[in-house]
Amino acid sequence: MRMKIAVLPGDGIGREVIQAAMRVLYATSEESGHKVLAEHADVGWTAVDQYGEALPPATRDICRRSEAILFGAVGLPDRDKTLPQDQRPERVALLELRKGLFANLRHIVMPAGLAHRCPLKNELITNGIDILIIRELTGGLYYGQPQGITGQAPSRRAVDTMAYSEHEIRRILKVGFESARKRRKKLASVDKANILATSQLWRETAVAMGQEYPDVHLEHIYVDNAAMQLLRRPSDFDVLVTENTFGDILSDEASMLAGSIGLVPSACLGEPDAQGSSATPFYEPIHGSAPDIAGRDKANPVGAILTVAMMLNHTFGLAKEARAIETATFAVLNEGQYLTGDLGGAAACSEVAEAIIERLRV
Ligand SMILES: NC(=O)c1ccc[n+]([C@@H]2O[C@H](COP(=O)([O-])OP(=O)(O)OC[C@H]3O[C@@H](n4cnc5c(N)ncnc54)[C@H](O)[C@@H]3O)[C@@H](O)[C@H]2O)c1
Repeated sequence: MRMKIAVLPGDGIGREVIQAAMRVLYATSEESGHKVLAEHADVGWTAVDQYGEALPPATRDICRRSEAILFGAVGLPDRDKTLPQDQRPERVALLELRKGLFANLRHIVMPAGLAHRCPLKNELITNGIDILIIRELTGGLYYGQPQGITGQAPSRRAVDTMAYSEHEIRRILKVGFESARKRRKKLASVDKANILATSQLWRETAVAMGQEYPDVHLEHIYVDNAAMQLLRRPSDFDVLVTENTFGDILSDEASMLAGSIGLVPSACLGEPDAQGSSATPFYEPIHGSAPDIAGRDKANPVGAILTVAMMLNHTFGLAKEARAIETATFAVLNEGQYLTGDLGGAAACSEVAEAIIERLRV
């Protein structure tokens, strides 16, 4: 197989972690015989300095003609604050590249050997944590109309609208059911069906779709309860699916369970439109550009390396190769010899990548 990948390291540690992740990808492809066709492109402040804009046309073109985008991070706080929010590289580049991608996946795993880094008590996590959070990304409160502030102070009024069509609900739930089917076959559908109309439609749709997936155990949880249960019984969760705003909050809460922000990978996926074309799937570690440690080979590359595993799985259907990367990565983390500073170790970003490559068995 040939894999056409747009590689966009971006700013700060984005450059270091993507370099490490690409080394692991090349090592995996060498072992498995699949060919990587990578085109590198600038994004973020790195692109502003070269081309005067955060997402130059050449970068867009490369993304458009690739099958997947591997993204590091963009943004530098000192420079960001010289621009209005909506013109900052993080907004401009990310919003544009993720347009049309409705499913945001975060894979949160707490490595057994790093249980002491998890903020929860030991007795709550003895069975491990391995949760796939699926958040709807293009609908709900953040996009519903009307939205805005009207009137004059002190009598102004603000409105946000939460709106979902059955089609939008069904397509994200489908990602949830299909993902659960490939994992431990448990799906937690999170809503607020006791109050919200959008959630009532969500739950009706989930119940109906559950008939098509009799092998998947479907649980319905109210969002406020889900926020508690993630901290009380995190090991029970397999796949969790929810709408945009709930997912934004729950996925950040759950990410903390991994032990470091540097460990968590993510993906944004879409589906072909009526013409059969779709936005390029987008893969990134969840952390930012971390300017406090950038340029010193100190960043944890694990989030980026596991992001490559997600890419192999979801875009290229290479489950065996993805598993090989995950197995090697967790072996290194559990051994504890090569850990970066965020995990209490002193290993360099490049050393962690090297240790993972040494353990790769495809
Ligand atoms: N998707 C993105 O591109 C993205 C996401 C978040 C933040 N940002 C941008 O990144 C810049 C910095 O943001 P921030 O400081 O709020 O968040 P951040 O994630 O960059 O850093 C937060 C803290 O976590 C640490 N950290 C993050 N990733 C790490 C890793 N892989 N290894 C070790 N330590 C790690 C950092 O050193 C820092 O102390 C800002 O400009 C922000 O807008 C971009």
